[in-house]
Amino acid sequence: PPHSSKPISLSSLSLDAHALHRQFDELAAFSDSPTPSVTRVLYTDKDVLARRYVKILMGIAGLSVREDAIGNIFGRWDGLETELAAVATGSHIDAIPYSGKYDGVVGVLGAIEAINVLKRSGFKPRRPLEVILFTSEEPTRFGIGCLGSRLLSGSENLAEALKTATDSQNISFLEAARSAGYAKDEDDLSSVFLKKGTYSAFVELHIEQGPILEDEGLSIGIVTAIAAPASLKVEFEGNGGHAGAVLMPNRNDAGLAAAELVLAVEKHVLESGSIDTVGTVGILELHPGAINSIPSKSHIEIDTRDIDEERRNHVIEKIHQSAIGITKTRGVKLSEFSIINQDPPALSSEAVVMAVETATRELNLTSKLMISRAYHDSLFMARLSPTGMIFIPCYKGYSHKPEEFASIEDVANGVKVLALTLAKLSLQ
Ligand code: GLV
Ligand code: MN
Ligand code: MN
Ligand code: MN
Repeated sequence: PPHSSKPISLSSLSLDAHALHRQFDELAAFSDSPTPSVTRVLYTDKDVLARRYVKILMGIAGLSVREDAIGNIFGRWDGLETELAAVATGSHIDAIPYSGKYDGVVGVLGAIEAINVLKRSGFKPRRPLEVILFTSEEPTRFGIGCLGSRLLSGSENLAEALKTATDSQNISFLEAARSAGYAKDEDDLSSVFLKKGTYSAFVELHIEQGPILEDEGLSIGIVTAIAAPASLKVEFEGNGGHAGAVLMPNRNDAGLAAAELVLAVEKHVLESGSIDTVGTVGILELHPGAINSIPSKSHIEIDTRDIDEERRNHVIEKIHQSAIGITKTRGVKLSEFSIINQDPPALSSEAVVMAVETATRELNLTSKLMISRAYHDSLFMARLSPTGMIFIPCYKGYSHKPEEFASIEDVANGVKVLALTLAKLSLQ
């Protein structure tokens, strides 16, 4: 190598908190709902503008920018040994309807600022460093979470499913991607797959999305594992009819079938006996959706997670049995019961955890080891390379709502830990 890289000096870590603060506000302005809420859905105009904004920041940081066929964005700083596997960091900027401005964004803007911090300090990485903006970590538009990282990790199933996937307006995935300037020539999205070993390590900075760090007055959470998420889509069908004329004994109400299943989800989750098992029905739609018409169709989507995969799978099995039972007692048809995703948990790599721990200690910040109950792109990056996550506190643990907030001091601490961690990993 032309120059040798040397360990970074801590006194030289200078972070531009003002600029970072302004960037959060500027990015939050690309929203389809009024401030302070943020709504930024995959491949919409606001998403495209926000992506352009991030690419500009990557350019200003001196990163070379590449995009893949579905719009995962990679900003690269060539190290002294350019042929070595890079160390990567990143997160997402898509935001579910009426959410906040920190989820995901901290790990993208924060990563670019971490690069700036390292550059200002005069540090020269040995391995290349890459900042990744992952496409659609949120399942909002096409119903599948971690779309970008899942495809990067080589999911053949997803590559196949995306050929025919449509959103609720019946716009196909490929059409939507093309409207945003992606997937130009290819129908085959397996070009997005990355080989194992592309990265020597991956580390993601994120708000905790829970109350523990704030409650305990700690600056940094070091993630040891990510809970296993799953999601299900269920539809019931009945005969519908006139809300006044069809007497109660003659009904098979698809809405009531859904209502029963919603309560069954809660029951099965609680029956697991563990506080780690959770289940949510965040989508419930009735057709035709008129006050004087008995629902002839119902559609529900169920999210269930657990740090214990087997226990979570058992809950899914019990939900399935309940759905079948409801068809018998209510005379409805179970027209769909599909498992959209059923992912295993991910374990952090010891080497990455150790690098984060060391960085945190050197910066004199308080920390604890913890699990992530939310999922993240790290869940899939862990399939490609040793992975870890850095959490920072957020106000009352609020997330996925407009009140989500992280102080610029906490963000700055996270960025410094990230910068130092990347520096250490790039020398390994
Ligand atoms: C992703 O935002 C999740 O639901 O954990
Ligand atoms: Mn989220
Ligand atoms: Mn997130
Ligand atoms: Mn998430």
